[in-house]
Amino acid sequence: MSQDQIPRMKKKLIMDVDTGVDDAMAIMMALAAPDVELLGITCCHGNTPLENVLKNTLRVLKICNRLDVPVYRGCAEPLVAHKRHAGDFHGKDGLGDVPDPDAPGLQLLQKEKAVEAIIKMVNDNPGEVSLVATAPLTNLAMAVKLDPSLPERLKALYIMGGNTESRGNTTVCGEFNFVADSEAAYVVLDRYTCPTYIATWEFSCRSSLPWSFVDTWLAQDTDKARFMERISCHTRKMVQTERYQKELVSGPGFNSCDTYAVAAAISDTLLTESEQVAVTVELGGTYTRGMMVLDYMELLKKTHKAFIMKTVDLEKFKQMLMDALK
Ligand code: BDR
Repeated sequence: MSQDQIPRMKKKLIMDVDTGVDDAMAIMMALAAPDVELLGITCCHGNTPLENVLKNTLRVLKICNRLDVPVYRGCAEPLVAHKRHAGDFHGKDGLGDVPDPDAPGLQLLQKEKAVEAIIKMVNDNPGEVSLVATAPLTNLAMAVKLDPSLPERLKALYIMGGNTESRGNTTVCGEFNFVADSEAAYVVLDRYTCPTYIATWEFSCRSSLPWSFVDTWLAQDTDKARFMERISCHTRKMVQTERYQKELVSGPGFNSCDTYAVAAAISDTLLTESEQVAVTVELGGTYTRGMMVLDYMELLKKTHKAFIMKTVDLEKFKQMLMDALK
């Protein structure tokens, strides 16, 4: 049998999401990848309250004709912090406040809860599953507390969250996912000793795409593209505002934060530059709670170092986005 004839093993992914607009893009990208098996989607509070996240996730699966992918109810609130959402960015319902009278009902959810499901899916496929986390990290923190050896059986963890230069998008120094549950982020960065890749806020800003690409992307003549055009309309208007432009590290552009994390999990050749450094999260601080701390001086004596994503192949990334809406 030649190399080409050997059946390629599909990459097994679990996505932990707070479906929001960019989570929707990330899910659609994973579903479109031919060599990916999405074992399940676990939902967490975050961009919008959990009930919306569940509904939004099912809406995304419906437009992709993939309601067969199991969806699990996760944590409705952070471990310690007060709840916060990002309604001004994603719309109050998390998907741009566009009415959807035919949204699937929550009776389609699995009976099993997200935290147990993560543990079961990983343990049933030891060493094979990559976990992509694009929400506050509450479900992941709960999972490792319940099963401390879980990370040993994970292939890799991909996170959208944190920051590298103390630039916030939610507080002065804090990125949304790490601020929304800082204690969970602390636990996850401390306990998940599997290979860990972090798509930070500054990295995502620097990897923004030109608006001309977005026009072409959304103009594709498909139901998925029309869906994305509708649900992202509020966010696209919002990011043109002066307030938002100030948050960006780079110049104007389209920043689909969560999608970078899933793209890196899908494609072995997407990530072109990263640095390995031990990381943690500030839990106190007048201004800095939720900020990611990079231990370049190795004062924390952590043996586990995360890969901080620096650059990706943007042409490949654009193609993956195009394919996601085909
Ligand atoms: C992160 O926060 C959320 O609003 C986005 O979905 C992304 O996960 C960016 O800071």
